[in-house]
Amino acid sequence: MSDLRSRLKDQNLFRTDSFINGEWVKGDSRFDVNNPANRSKVADVADVGAAGAKQAVKAAAAANLEWRRTSPFERARIVKRWHDLIMENQDDLGVILAMEMGKPLAEAKGEIAYGAGFVEWAAEEAKRVHGETIAVPTPGARGWTIRQPVGVVSCITPWNFPSAMITRKCSPALAVGCPIVIKPAAETPLSALALAELAARAGFPKGVFNVVTGEAKHIGPVLTQSDEVAMIGFTGSTQVGALLMEQAAKGIKRVALELGGNAPFIVMDDADVEKAADGLIQGKFRAGGQTCVSPNRVFVQEAIMGDLTEALAERVKKVKVGDPFEEGVQVGPLIHDKAVERVSELVSGAVSKGAKIVAGGKSLMKEMGGSFYAPTLITGADMASSLAVNEIFGPVASLYPVKDEAEIIKLANATPYGLAAYLYTRDAGRVHRITEGIDFGMIGVNAPMVGSPATPFGGMKQSGIGREGGKWAAEEFTELKFVLLSGIDE
Ligand code: SIN
Repeated sequence: MSDLRSRLKDQNLFRTDSFINGEWVKGDSRFDVNNPANRSKVADVADVGAAGAKQAVKAAAAANLEWRRTSPFERARIVKRWHDLIMENQDDLGVILAMEMGKPLAEAKGEIAYGAGFVEWAAEEAKRVHGETIAVPTPGARGWTIRQPVGVVSCITPWNFPSAMITRKCSPALAVGCPIVIKPAAETPLSALALAELAARAGFPKGVFNVVTGEAKHIGPVLTQSDEVAMIGFTGSTQVGALLMEQAAKGIKRVALELGGNAPFIVMDDADVEKAADGLIQGKFRAGGQTCVSPNRVFVQEAIMGDLTEALAERVKKVKVGDPFEEGVQVGPLIHDKAVERVSELVSGAVSKGAKIVAGGKSLMKEMGGSFYAPTLITGADMASSLAVNEIFGPVASLYPVKDEAEIIKLANATPYGLAAYLYTRDAGRVHRITEGIDFGMIGVNAPMVGSPATPFGGMKQSGIGREGGKWAAEEFTELKFVLLSGIDE
């Protein structure tokens, strides 16, 4: 058993039971959570199964009316308190996250602050849910709109951001008056349960904030198909998103889906090569490359291919891989051994078709005793290889030479995905033509990261439906009602 508890300043944040209707629930069975850096067991966690999920949905439904009628100012206060508690416990939450997910500790603490930003923003937005008056054609009649919470929201969240994907999804739902049931990934339930402990301390009424842990195949259908659930929010793969959408379709439930990506990272020949190289390192190796917005296909204009390859090779060779708790480590383990095997296959497949490994290119599982893969730089991969076509979800950057704007736009769009894209150029004309020509929900120009509490986060095509973040998040979780009043002032 790992030493997670002993590393925490507040040991009550180490929770291993589900949180349903304000109570910690043990469930009939348990499952292991392991540290991917050394495969040791971190905890055993309750599997509450379909019965626990039903209990949570019922509790949320029972809390719905009261929470929706709670003054937005009071809801804002509770959500803000949750934010403050998250930030007060940033160190402990970072430790929990690093241990179960494998992100380097500094990055894990950064995720806690990133995620807390969404909570603070949502608390502020709770007070700014507005309707409109509308001039209507009937003489003497009045028309107006009101925005009301959709009802119970199921939030199904991934392991790559065990904290921030919960806060980004749940805090706007809570703030506008929706009770929630969270199902965290089985790999990383401890961050979710620690957030539940802090939510309880913040004062959410019973039933408003629930976390159910266990096997997705039993819990998922309850969260997508129960009559009491109004909406499903999901972050994860396109494949699972499609399955959940299919389940939700039976009840015509609202969905907000943040799915897979295959982000192009475009470097034009007028770009600052050093800055582009720094940006790629930052964007690519964040979370060990395991993000939906990770640069996946690096398109480089031919004239600067040599210079950029050189600048990147130097940097990639210096990226420090190791235990998340070791000082200076930039890339931790991947989530589990299977993830390493998958990345190894993508790389060896590309190499077998002529790609060249400039740096890394190997599994470090044996050498390091955990789920590690070396930071890798590749050139010459075929555009039709699995490495180019699929989301890599690992620390591998693959460079593709391109001729001109027309080819770049065509190649960037040659994917069913449309989440994030990056463009490095100093030419304003290119900025407009390319950002308008490529089909991606978020585009960073000379910027390797696109998420923030203030801005819309989400994708086009098979990368999802809906937007998280900013003023758009509150809209996702509210229903727009129209009222026509007639017969009073004729
Ligand atoms: C994700 O990978 O799903 C989220 C990444 C981010 O928020 O930047």
